[in-house]
Amino acid sequence: MTVRPRGCHRVSDTSDSLRAETVRGVLQTEIIGRQVYVYDRLDSTNLEAKRLSEGGAREGTVVIAEEQTEGRGRLNRRWLSPAGENLLFSVIFRPDLKAAQAFRLTMISSLAVVSAIQGETDLSPLIKWPNDVYIGGKKVCGILTELSPRDEGIGFAVVGIGINVNFDLTPISELKGTATSLALEGGVRVSRVALLKGVLEALEANYRALKNGRVDMLRNLWTGLLLLKGKVVRVTTGSEVHVGTAEDFEADGCMVLACQGGGRKRITSGDASLVSWQEG
Ligand code: BTN
Repeated sequence: MTVRPRGCHRVSDTSDSLRAETVRGVLQTEIIGRQVYVYDRLDSTNLEAKRLSEGGAREGTVVIAEEQTEGRGRLNRRWLSPAGENLLFSVIFRPDLKAAQAFRLTMISSLAVVSAIQGETDLSPLIKWPNDVYIGGKKVCGILTELSPRDEGIGFAVVGIGINVNFDLTPISELKGTATSLALEGGVRVSRVALLKGVLEALEANYRALKNGRVDMLRNLWTGLLLLKGKVVRVTTGSEVHVGTAEDFEADGCMVLACQGGGRKRITSGDASLVSWQEG
């Protein structure tokens, strides 16, 4: 497979190595990525971003790793990624949001990932509530947002993003049928630097819109890309399982489920799947 830089995101670094100067040099942002740290290997970019935040790191600081030894997913799951093939990064925010509104950061991040993938490939990604990006029914990106609450608000938030870019995960049995990468879906390698630029620039635009009170506009964009909207789904929350139609999704992350047995439930988090995927 060959690297295929597209359009105005063409980058001169054909090696596609993630170096801090390269990333800072291509970014046209004012908040996100003014400070960039790149590591060959870290325990987890989210853990490092939290350590930096506790030490006072500025909003918009980006932490990137080629490899993680303790890559973390939601619900204490692992995030598997071989060195040098994918994007593994975290962004520090110091938002003026209530802790209960923190999902808005996940929402704007998934929108940014979709827009960057659309800019760099011919693929059609969708967002799977609450925090994944899917292509063709398989996961290509996961987002893990972690908070340090302060009073009712947020001291800092770390949004960790893992995107399977050039990863050939076909030999990995635990990911078979459930995960994919951009290169596998599109048949060509994708420039990680160009994709990262696309994500961070879109994230900055979305964050500015959020700060300017344009949450309804962002929510409308987001709901328009939701894979499960209007579908019959099974949602697992802890030990409870709910089946029904995913009628609506709120900006603070709640799914409104029209339950099969009648009535409506607002579900704040969980694992959701299409009933037809499980039973088909
Ligand atoms: C999920 O799908 O459960 C979320 C996965 C998030 C993975 C990314 S990779 C970069 C950042 N660092 C981590 O340890 N996790 C996130």
